[in-house]
Amino acid sequence: MFSRSFYNTIHSFHRSIRFLTTSSIAKKPNYAFAFDIDGVLLKGKKPIAEAKSAIQLLNGDNPQNRRVPFVLLTNGGGMTEAAKANQVSNLIDVEISPDQVILSHSPMQMLTKKYKEKRVLVVGGKGKICADLAKGYGFDNVVTPQDLHHWNNSLWPYSQPKDITEAAYQDYSTLPIEAVMMFHDSFDWGRDLQVMLDALCSHDGIIGTMKKDFSTQSMPVYFSNNDLIWSTDFPTPRLGQGAFKEALEGLYKALTGGSLISESFGKPHGATYFYAERVISRHHQTLYGEPFVPEHVYAIGDNPAADIKGANAHGWSSLLVRTGVHTGPGNSQEYPADVVCDNVLDAVRWAINKEEIVVAKFYLIIQC
Ligand code: G3P
Ligand code: MG
Repeated sequence: MFSRSFYNTIHSFHRSIRFLTTSSIAKKPNYAFAFDIDGVLLKGKKPIAEAKSAIQLLNGDNPQNRRVPFVLLTNGGGMTEAAKANQVSNLIDVEISPDQVILSHSPMQMLTKKYKEKRVLVVGGKGKICADLAKGYGFDNVVTPQDLHHWNNSLWPYSQPKDITEAAYQDYSTLPIEAVMMFHDSFDWGRDLQVMLDALCSHDGIIGTMKKDFSTQSMPVYFSNNDLIWSTDFPTPRLGQGAFKEALEGLYKALTGGSLISESFGKPHGATYFYAERVISRHHQTLYGEPFVPEHVYAIGDNPAADIKGANAHGWSSLLVRTGVHTGPGNSQEYPADVVCDNVLDAVRWAINKEEIVVAKFYLIIQC
């Protein structure tokens, strides 16, 4: 039969495997979550009832008493990541740090390499907050629609400019705009449509001129998200930045006969998901001391055309909730999710149960 030393070897191997599996399993989950905000955690400025418990489950209030990495991945914006973290933390009464927040315009920081010194028309958001955001990202030459309106008051005869920046005092009859970036939803559709069309139809980016040949576009235009609609505390969804883009494209077609060429960020676009994975990895490092992108990312969203379409395309698990844009009894027909849940807490519980069953099976296999 086998010698004593053989049994000791097997037993110590078994003990080391057991320590390895329980300690590594108990410590570092191989999964993470990406939460949409509007329609999942919030409705306007009101918290969704299940949001706090869902986040608390991931902050350690779970059978393993461990923290599961999560990020907030929103097509919202118009403020800094820190301000959004603070806003959500206060509204749902849990701790969210800025390094867990990805806004619609967060990935647009990638554009600073190309446009750092170039004059960029930054559109959207309240007052001059998006100009300040763009400068904070590293765009050094920012002008806003209200600045151009201040430069030439007849640019838009239906309102008066306010919240101008120092760029308002330059003379744009000789200074070209080189790109247009919509950082957030417009708070003055009429003026912003007019100014963007002035730039996109201009001769060499000079506002107040009109090019003759529209076979080529005067400059690139970037959008921070394409949400046609989004969920607030109003009973039915509201028009989002994607609706503004449709209006701009329709006017550009009517004015020039051409189709507007643009580049978009935000969900469902891939650039945003690659950016989000870098944020998840950095957050994992904060929690567990090493950068890591878990095998499974569970994206929980309310808008099939953004949250589900994007997660499915990127190979994440998609969980659709019924508290926002999607309210139907079944799944989305156009962009079916992996799972449909009534709310965010049910979605988190479903994913944790799925992961812990997998882990338990792995552990049982090792134990036997
Ligand atoms: O502007 C906010 C809206 O586009 C949707 O935000 O959090 O549902 O992606 P969210
Ligand atoms: Mg949403």
